[in-house]
Amino acid sequence: MAIIEETKKGIIAICKSHKGEPSPLMPVLEEVQKKYGYIPLEVQELISSEMDIPVAEIYGVVTFYNFFSLTPKGKYVIGVCLGTACYVKNSQNILDKFQDILKIKAGETTDDGLFTIEAIRCMGACALAPAVSVNGKVYPQVSVDEVAAIVNDYKKLEGNA
Ligand code: FES
Repeated sequence: MAIIEETKKGIIAICKSHKGEPSPLMPVLEEVQKKYGYIPLEVQELISSEMDIPVAEIYGVVTFYNFFSLTPKGKYVIGVCLGTACYVKNSQNILDKFQDILKIKAGETTDDGLFTIEAIRCMGACALAPAVSVNGKVYPQVSVDEVAAIVNDYKKLEGNA
């Protein structure tokens, strides 16, 4: 996949704005992720040549942190918390249900580009365990039986249910 010229210019500008900082990689990646939604290998190579940082190091960071993505995320990003407080309240079953209904695995996006499922660590809402978030909106004490309704609400928004 070739990066379009305008995107390339935007990424180079982000790199330039952080050059000379003591640890520029994280802020550059955060800005690129926020602006373009994902950081594919081609973009990592461009950042590598602009910042003089090995691609392997950039790839390591991008794949280590959940916040970064190698592929475009869906319009609705469903985060199922597998942190301890949620896990002991069966959040794995909730994750399995989302995966069954949407026919994708955690980390994947549906073909229509609507949904991405992410297995996430504690989202700071342990009192609401098991918790699920959709684009940052937190659903408290979710049960497996509610999963289909959550998905359908977003499908309805798209006129798709
Ligand atoms: S463990 Fe799930 S919100 Fe803290």
